[in-house]
Amino acid sequence: MAVIGVGKIGLCFALTLERASYAVLGVDADRERVEQIRNKAVRTPEPRVQQALAAARSVEVVHDLAAVRSFGPDCIFIAVDTPTIETGGYDTRHVDRVLRDLFALGRRDAPTDLVLLCTTFPGYCDSKVAEASDYGYALSYSPWFVAQGSIMADLERPDQILIGEADPAAGARLEALYRRVCSNEPAVHRMSRLSAEIAKLATNCFLTMKIAFANAIGDLATRAGAERDRVLDAVGGDGRIGRGCLRYGFGYGGPCFPRDNRALHFFAMQHDYNLFQAQATDEANRSHLAFQVGQYLRAHREDEVIHVHGVTYKAGTEMLEESQPLALARALAAAGRRVVIHESPAVATQLRAEFGELFEYEIEGALSVT
Ligand SMILES: NC(=O)c1ccc[n+]([C@@H]2O[C@H](COP(=O)([O-])OP(=O)(O)OC[C@H]3O[C@@H](n4cnc5c(N)ncnc54)[C@H](O)[C@@H]3O)[C@@H](O)[C@H]2O)c1
Repeated sequence: MAVIGVGKIGLCFALTLERASYAVLGVDADRERVEQIRNKAVRTPEPRVQQALAAARSVEVVHDLAAVRSFGPDCIFIAVDTPTIETGGYDTRHVDRVLRDLFALGRRDAPTDLVLLCTTFPGYCDSKVAEASDYGYALSYSPWFVAQGSIMADLERPDQILIGEADPAAGARLEALYRRVCSNEPAVHRMSRLSAEIAKLATNCFLTMKIAFANAIGDLATRAGAERDRVLDAVGGDGRIGRGCLRYGFGYGGPCFPRDNRALHFFAMQHDYNLFQAQATDEANRSHLAFQVGQYLRAHREDEVIHVHGVTYKAGTEMLEESQPLALARALAAAGRRVVIHESPAVATQLRAEFGELFEYEIEGALSVT
């Protein structure tokens, strides 16, 4: 197996394949990352990664993509980053680059499965199929539903697996591989590439909708003087709804939910369809933040110091991308309040670099957001 792009997801995926007894070649454009992995010195808050890397015997990591030719993998996974484009959708220049470099190595002697793990905008994969096929690759799309803070566990025991298959034979090969890799029996959904691209975004869009709904009902219950947690517990107790993502707390953030939600809305617009749920969800997430800011401002006197315990988008990570706790802290500071952030040294360093003296800090170990 080859995994191109051994960042947060790619490395975990490579280690998961290795644990299932596959020989794995990892390739990454970042030389420093390659050296860190080779030296088994990756600094990450992600559970189990360092242990799995220390134990890994059959993972080789290189910088030069040309190594794929001599390694001769049966299947090549691509897990490079696909950043968000401001106007909507994803910037696929890294995937484009990998595909160009792979094809430049020449036509494969034996047909090879090429699987995109990274999030792509619906229609992207199909746009690359003809060229991939010319070079002997069967191109499939297979995004995994993993969350920061539990990537290894999510890869090992996924709820479900999505395969946008190149053809039924490629889908069957991937399904067999995944069944070998997973220690549970996940539902495997096989479909066309375009369907899988939409299903990935729609899943995250629905989850954001559920989170925003729970927070909206919680805000309303708070305003009305009701017991918000009991209300939500009762709503989630209905089997048709379920309690997952239905607890009151901070709005959604991080590297996947907000952008996938917006991307689906953008995709719908391109098809002349108003997916107003996605847009309303985004708006509801912002309203919830405004509600929380109001609550904090009312709960603290103007000369009182406000302590914010953890500002990453999710406890157990060091990521600040679209973090709602951080947005809250910023809004409070912008309102002229003294804000003390309790964070780990790594997160505090990021905050100081970006926000200078806006906050004060209490440096602590890993913290949960309360
Ligand atoms: N992080 C998550 O929780 C998560 C969850 C689901 C899906 N995804 C998707 O997975 C993809 C990867 O995400 P990530 O968080 O692992 O990103 P990342 O930035 O941590 O890793 C990407 C890696 O790809 C490497 N890379 C970039 N261009 C390359 C090239 N031309 N050749 C070789 N290597 C190259 C980078 O150096 C980096 O190490 C994204 O599309 C993301 O949307 C991520």
